[in-house]
Amino acid sequence: MAVILITGSNGQLGNELKVVSENFYGYDFIFTDVDTLDITNYDSTSEYIKKTQPDWIINCAAYTLVDKAESEPDKAILINGIAVNNITEAIKGTECRFIHVSSDYVYDGKSNVPYNENVAVNPQSAYGRSKLEGEKYALRHHGSMVIRTSWLYSSFGNNFVKTILRSGAEKESLNVVFDQTGTPTYAADLAEAIMGIVSGVIRNQVAMNAGIYNYSNEGVCSWFDFATEIIREAGLSCKVLPVLSKEFKQIAQRPTYSVMDKSKIKENYGLIIPHWRTSLLKCIKLLK
Ligand SMILES: NC(=O)c1ccc[n+]([C@@H]2O[C@H](COP(=O)([O-])OP(=O)(O)OC[C@H]3O[C@@H](n4cnc5c(N)ncnc54)[C@H](OP(=O)(O)O)[C@@H]3O)[C@@H](O)[C@H]2O)c1
Repeated sequence: MAVILITGSNGQLGNELKVVSENFYGYDFIFTDVDTLDITNYDSTSEYIKKTQPDWIINCAAYTLVDKAESEPDKAILINGIAVNNITEAIKGTECRFIHVSSDYVYDGKSNVPYNENVAVNPQSAYGRSKLEGEKYALRHHGSMVIRTSWLYSSFGNNFVKTILRSGAEKESLNVVFDQTGTPTYAADLAEAIMGIVSGVIRNQVAMNAGIYNYSNEGVCSWFDFATEIIREAGLSCKVLPVLSKEFKQIAQRPTYSVMDKSKIKENYGLIIPHWRTSLLKCIKLLK
């Protein structure tokens, strides 16, 4: 029975993997978070991995406070970078496969065409730099797959969708930036895609090709478009007003454009990715 170890499983993606795992029989899932497996501690990580002997590790553990990372970059590097090295050092020389989740923030955000995985990276924030560090450590292991995702949301945890739903129910209007373009990712879809890849490889239906892959939902929107759709789908009457990023002070620099080309993951693993609007509707129905 394949043993699949998930780190950071109390977060958005980790929780969605717990939900998805219920549809996958014959696998031994081990869900951990910082209280059971603190990946910043090399000795305990190594010991835990030796004890459980996973065939796969899916790293959902992360430091995701984008603005706070500007004032505590060392903490971001420790969790998003050095801790990834702890995992790959612990599985060195084994056949354990490693799926590591990264971010669109490793790109410079200045393009006007979708980023593919070959575009040179150039993170513009402390968070982005820490995620890039993690990618480098992840790729040192021969069986590693790095999945870059963007604008992640879920019915679990805190995220943009929940903030807009909460504020939209309390306020008459909301200012939302319209000059930052990207694609939302429903963590439930990403969890399903990851498990589709894992089970496909285990059953020899697809070959595991190590390397970097982009994944988000299909489609393109601004945060303003996204918020407008959230309010509309939730049946709220709050007005969403478009504002420029320069009018909306944020500590960390956000990418102006972070749409990702997902051809590689779709072609390699035969994935069909839902449009962001379809997935948003699913999440809002669940939250109601
Ligand atoms: N959220 C987004 O918009 C977004 C966008 C692009 C990419 N991503 C990437 O997608 C992945 C999943 O993100 P997410 O939104 O699911 O993250 P999340 O909700 O913040 O979950 C991360 C989990 O990791 C845990 N964690 C923190 N430090 C740890 C440690 N030392 N050892 C073990 N676990 C630890 C956290 O615990 P605590 O809560 O107790 O700290 C939390 O449960 C991450 O790699 C993230 O960088 C996210």
